[in-house]
Amino acid sequence: MAKKTAFITGILGQDGPYLAKFLLEKEYKVYGLIRRYSNPNFSNLDYLEITHNVDYVEGDMNDEASLLNLIRTIRPDEVYNLAAQSFVGSSFDQAKLTTEINALGPLYLLNAIKYFSPTTRFYQASTSEMFGLQHTNGYQDENTPFHPRSPYGVSKVYAYWITVNYRESYGLFTANGILFNHESPIRGIQFVTRKITDGVAKIKLGLSKELRLGNLEAKRDWGFAGDYVEAMYLMLQQKNPDDYVIGTGESHSVKEFVKLAFKSVGIFDWEKYVVIDPQFKRPAEVPNLKAKPDKAKKILGWSPKVSFEELVEMMVRADLKRYQNK
Ligand code: NAP
Ligand code: GDD
Repeated sequence: MAKKTAFITGILGQDGPYLAKFLLEKEYKVYGLIRRYSNPNFSNLDYLEITHNVDYVEGDMNDEASLLNLIRTIRPDEVYNLAAQSFVGSSFDQAKLTTEINALGPLYLLNAIKYFSPTTRFYQASTSEMFGLQHTNGYQDENTPFHPRSPYGVSKVYAYWITVNYRESYGLFTANGILFNHESPIRGIQFVTRKITDGVAKIKLGLSKELRLGNLEAKRDWGFAGDYVEAMYLMLQQKNPDDYVIGTGESHSVKEFVKLAFKSVGIFDWEKYVVIDPQFKRPAEVPNLKAKPDKAKKILGWSPKVSFEELVEMMVRADLKRYQNK
C-alpha cells in the first residue's frame, strides 16, 4: 500500500515536531512547511531526532499562492494546520499580523483543498483560548460558548468557524481540535511553563537570581504535547469529521506550577526568587481553563498519559540538562 502523506504547517514549533515523529512512526511521508529564512532553526526537530526524516517545502501562511501551489502538487492525504502566531501576549501588540496568519491562513488552506484536493482531510489547531471567560459549571466542553479575550483568541474563533463552514458547505473532511494548554521540553521560551522551568534551572545552577512573572493566579489545564498530537491524528481517522475538546480535566494555577518546579530541584522558599512584574500582565486575562474531554474519550478513545506533576518534573530536568551540557 502507498504511504500516506501528511502536510504539517508549524513544523518548527512545539507541536509540529511531536506530530511529525508520531506520523513518521506510522510510516507516513511527512511534508513540513517552513518560511523563507536566511537561517532556519531546526532545534526542536533535532531534539526529537527527526530533522532528516521530514521533507521541507517553502511557503508562508500569509502567501495564498504558495499554499495553493503546495496543496496542488503534493495532494496530501492529511493537512495539519499548526502554524500560528501563537503567543497570546504578542497578539495584543501585533493584532493584524496575528489575524492574517491565524484566521486567513486556514482559509487559504481550505480553499486550496476545496479547489485542488477535495479528498484531503484537514485538521485545524483550535484552542481553549476561544472560551475565554465562558464556562459551563466550571469547565469547558464542545457546547460551551466562545468569549475570546485577546486578538489571538478572536483570530482562532474565525478559523474554527471557517473550518466548520467548509465542512458544512462543501462536504470537506475538516476537524477542529480544541486543545487546552500543552507543554513539553521544546515549548517556546516565552510561554509561562517553559519560562518557569528554564528560570528554575538557571537559579538552581547559580546562573540567575530571580524569575520575573505576571499573574500567578491564572489557572490552566496543562498536559503534555506528546500525548496531544495523537488526538490530532485520531480526529482525522474517524468515519465522520467533527470537533473535539482535548485536555486533562485538571486545572492548576501558575503559582502551583512555580512551587512544584522549585520543589523539584529542592528549593522550598520560592517566594525569595519570584518577582511580580506588571509588564507580563495582559490587558485582558483568561482566568480559568479546565477541559471536559469526555467526547474525545468516548469517540476517539483518547486520554492523556502524562500527569501534571510528571510534566513539571520532565520540563525542569530537560532545562537543567541543557545548562549542564553547556
Ligand atoms: P508554536 O510553537 O508557536 O509554533 C507555531 C509555528 O507556526 C512555528 O513553527 C512558526 O514558524 C509557524 N508560523 C508562524 N507564522 C507562520 C507563517 N506566517 N507561515 C508559516 N509558518 C508560520 O506553537 P505550538 O505550541 O506548536 O502550537 C501549534 C498550534 O496549536 C498553533 O496554531 C497554536 O495556536 C495551537 N494551540 C497550541 C496550544 C498549546 O498549548 N501549545 C493549545 C491550543 C492551540 P517559525 O518557527 O518560522 O516561527
Ligand atoms: N507567558 C507568560 N509569561 N504568561 C504568564 C506570565 C509570564 O511571565 N506570568 C503569568 N502568566 C500567565 C498568563 O497571564 C496566562 O494566564 C498564563 O500564565 C498562561 O500563559 P501562556 O503560557 O503564555 O499561555 P496561554 O494560556 O496564554 O496560551 C497558550 O495556551 C493556549 C491554549 O489555551 C498558548 O499556547 C496558545 O497558543 C494556546 O492557544
